Amino acid sequence: MVRITDETMQPFEKEHIDAVRKAAPECTLFLKRDGTLPLDAPCRVALYGSGARKTIKGGTGSGDVNVRHFVTIEEGLQKAGFEITTKKWLDEYDALLVSRRAEFVRQVKEEARQLGINPVMYCMGKAMPEPGYEFALDAGGEMAVYALARISGEGADRAMVAGDISLSETEIQDILALNKKYEKFVLVLNVGGMVDLEPVKDVKNILLLGQLGTPTGDVLADLLLGKSYPSGKLAMTWAPIGKYASTKGFGDMDDTLYTEGIYVGYRYFDTVHEKPDFPFGYGLSYTNFEMAVKDTVVETGKITVTVEVRNTGTFAGKETVQVYYSAPAGKLDKPYQELAAFGKTKELRPGECANVTLGFNIVDMASYDTELSSYILEGGKYIIRVGNSSEDAVPCCKVVLDETAVIRKVKNICPGCTFKDFVPETETDAASETVKDRSMADIPVHRIWAKDMPQEIVVYDEMPREQAGNACTWEDVKNGRSTIDEFVGSLNEKQLAYLSIGLFEDHAGMGSIVGAAAQSVAGAAGESSQRLQDLGVPSLVMADGPAGLRLCTKYKVVDGKAKGVDSPLAGFTDFLDAEQLRQMAAMAPRPSEEELAAPLNYMYCTAIPIGTALAQSFSEEVCRMCGDIVGDEMEKFGIHLWLAPAMNIQRSPLCGRNFEYYSEDPLVSGRLAAAVTKSVQAHKGCGVTVKHFALNNQETNRTASNSIVSERAIREIYLRGFEICVREAQPHTLMSSYNLVNGEHTCNSRDLQTHVLRNEWGFEGMVMTDWYAAGSTMLGINKGESKHPAGSSAGCIHAGNDLVMPGMQADLDDMMDALSNPEHAYPITKAQLQVTAKRVLEMVLKLT
Ligand code: BGC
Repeated sequence: MVRITDETMQPFEKEHIDAVRKAAPECTLFLKRDGTLPLDAPCRVALYGSGARKTIKGGTGSGDVNVRHFVTIEEGLQKAGFEITTKKWLDEYDALLVSRRAEFVRQVKEEARQLGINPVMYCMGKAMPEPGYEFALDAGGEMAVYALARISGEGADRAMVAGDISLSETEIQDILALNKKYEKFVLVLNVGGMVDLEPVKDVKNILLLGQLGTPTGDVLADLLLGKSYPSGKLAMTWAPIGKYASTKGFGDMDDTLYTEGIYVGYRYFDTVHEKPDFPFGYGLSYTNFEMAVKDTVVETGKITVTVEVRNTGTFAGKETVQVYYSAPAGKLDKPYQELAAFGKTKELRPGECANVTLGFNIVDMASYDTELSSYILEGGKYIIRVGNSSEDAVPCCKVVLDETAVIRKVKNICPGCTFKDFVPETETDAASETVKDRSMADIPVHRIWAKDMPQEIVVYDEMPREQAGNACTWEDVKNGRSTIDEFVGSLNEKQLAYLSIGLFEDHAGMGSIVGAAAQSVAGAAGESSQRLQDLGVPSLVMADGPAGLRLCTKYKVVDGKAKGVDSPLAGFTDFLDAEQLRQMAAMAPRPSEEELAAPLNYMYCTAIPIGTALAQSFSEEVCRMCGDIVGDEMEKFGIHLWLAPAMNIQRSPLCGRNFEYYSEDPLVSGRLAAAVTKSVQAHKGCGVTVKHFALNNQETNRTASNSIVSERAIREIYLRGFEICVREAQPHTLMSSYNLVNGEHTCNSRDLQTHVLRNEWGFEGMVMTDWYAAGSTMLGINKGESKHPAGSSAGCIHAGNDLVMPGMQADLDDMMDALSNPEHAYPITKAQLQVTAKRVLEMVLKLT
């Protein structure tokens, strides 16, 4: 770990920010484009909108990154030589925000009071809808840019109101007026997720800039000046909010019913023939491309498609080839199509072409048959499509399977779904062939046979037996003189329990603050136990993501502990008023002589593009590059585990944390999270923590809301991305989620944490809980009266969820009780604690 005592910008910071600036255009895309961009040179620009000066670099909460500085749109354009003609408008808008925000904060706190919810937790993540106003749009300029921003974050969902999911009247009016007034006009979306663009979708240019971290404003300037070009694609379908199958019933305080089953995102829109505003996989650049399928090969269990891509425009660019499959509906209904593979070209100059070859396993087209508790490939025709969006994919070959094949026999999991999933009325059998622009008769047909398909029968773990041990030290284990099993066998029950709980002070209650519970690195979210330090066992330090490394920017070392100088609550204090902040400051212990004299150290980390933006790159290379930046900063600042990537499915645009998540599609989430994982873990002593496992798709009452979902949807949609990431990249650790699934907290679910994760997918790492997931009701984090009880710490051990974070006395008490009390809801044995403690120790051995 390096200690930086000089506050000036370090060479690594500049290198990292430059790298993000170079790669981030790949995360952006035009939704509309009229050919008047890019510009030849900087000009006088009329810059309007909420994101102009108050640009959002990423969302709020634990996903926020504390940076030295980030570049707003106003600053980025000015630095690039643009003259901004709308300073008066921007000043007026700033003043308006201050007064409206005070009113909004008052209102939200009152709501919390009435609902009986802890006000800090209730207010966390709540975004103020964009206010209405009437400011003149009378500034001059050769072009106009309207930057529309939205923020959201942990703790609250987005609202179906004007100024959040929808545009406000003022926004609509101003955007349409500017579009009319200026020959050159671009609506820039500085958003972390979908906004309903229906009223303005005819404007000339709409650029989805997204939230790109530290260099956000610079990236826009580069794009406008043609120093770079967009090459992203939507990782989520954009449609008016009322049209998503998930909207009805979204965000129930107690039970959210996922009645749409597997019909999430484009799987729904394409199947029911509902045309979205902008489909999944869609995005325009400065140029155009043509695709031609050159070859399709089916052999050794794989389908491989070779596509020639030609740049037919006048600007350089990159195109993403997408391969979809339509499976035959038989016993099981099927979506119209599902993504099977994707790949991006290298940069193509005008006129240049390149081949992209994409392959995928035939078994990856299997569906889950709950009745048989098996993944099956149904007999019939599989149509393979190629294109550059879900709406624009044409058949390139047919693969015909003679009869149904059972390819993996598993066990039923997560019982308790109370309804039957929605089944579309539309004929979904791919044989009915909605041929778009090519005759199905022309495409090659490949035949495959059920007898050739692999067959796997998963074997599940029995409960473990207690291990005997040998007194030895951690040093002996490190030197190979003793095994971890011997070491674990020599520990008593309390020592084992301590290892399975994060670092906490005895009887400290909620001894640490959410998001900053570590002692070794300031601002790190948590740390594993230091109780076995006398035996030589070091702790693991964890810091948040996913938009970079979340640490305090300034700290001192006092008594061997790192103490942040910036508030550990930075990013969480949005709704605390001056009086509450004063009270908190007064509660903080007075700094000692030693602390006052200690030198300041600095940790300025880089904010990388938010998860959704990374996914929009559809590029493993971009993801690897960002993972590499994070890994490098982890090594520098002594972080072992990065609490990211966050890879929950974007089930509804209303989820407040969607900006952290990747996509509505599990393949995109899984593949890109695997790329990030591999690059972080290539750094010495560094691992990722993929989160939140699983079905954490809403923030409303997040610690006690129950996702009620069919097993088929759980497996095919919500677990699939995690499965891909685990199988491809073996993330060192994984974080279970807050919510319940079909009535049981995920951290207490042996089905999820052991049967699926380890027995079915072969996960070799360690599982930790989300912060206070076990026992959070006790802390008043939940709504006043929860229908569902809190998770149990002993239940975590029973489930195979190895580490309870961030740790408190109540966790220890619960585990000790469960060891001896047969009446406990989750009685546990010493042998079970040995298993979880061993996994923690294995991680310590690997990373320290
Ligand atoms: C969030 C996690 C985060 C953890 C530690 C929780 O509130 O849900 O995503 O990693 O805090 O900060």
